[in-house]
Amino acid sequence: MIGALYMLNLAILVSGRGSNMEAILKNIRKGYIKAEAKVVISNREARALSIAKEYGVDTILVDDKGKKGVDWEYDKKILEVLERYGINNTNGLICLAGYMRILSPEFVRIYKNRIMNIHPSLLPAFAGLHAQKQALEYGVKVTGCTVHFVDENLDSGPIIIQRSVEVKDDDTIEMLSNRILAEEHIAYSEAIKLFAEGRLDVRGRRVFIL
Ligand code: GAR
Repeated sequence: MIGALYMLNLAILVSGRGSNMEAILKNIRKGYIKAEAKVVISNREARALSIAKEYGVDTILVDDKGKKGVDWEYDKKILEVLERYGINNTNGLICLAGYMRILSPEFVRIYKNRIMNIHPSLLPAFAGLHAQKQALEYGVKVTGCTVHFVDENLDSGPIIIQRSVEVKDDDTIEMLSNRILAEEHIAYSEAIKLFAEGRLDVRGRRVFIL
């Protein structure tokens, strides 16, 4: 079994708008998620940082200066911040919430099964960027969102929770994205809550909810 027997220390990594992060912070405040949000880290100036401050959470900008690509040297700077905030691989959880960088394998191995991501499709369909557009263009009738653990490959780790959304004939990318986003906000908090309660059991690719 993995998860916390005592208060879980959370770090949230963001790059943009921060609506998933805000849903998580609201649910911590309400007591639905038994965890402490220690720090919000962003790779660029982002709206999410000002929201986090409104919630009284420390924010750190680790500017990547727009340089994309897997970069262990950059990730070491994130690691330093996490260590400073006491987020380790026995009491910590790292939540990627619209974090638009790919973590290096070295980083992922340190926090094995302690990094979660939210993705706006029913994985393994439509991994990568613009998942909602991909779904609409492909013509699927049902799409949704996935919360999964992060492994060394893109959008490929063990799946924790999925929620589905119907695609309507007259959907625009924006309309579909908004309906998926509403489900993301529910799914992400539920997954973190289960983790915080020590109720997620990862066996190979499968995650069992205890
Ligand atoms: C969300 O839709 C999230 O699923 C997506 O970015 C958006 C962030 O919104 N993430 C990815 O596409 C990751 N591959 P938010 O900043 O309002 O939470």
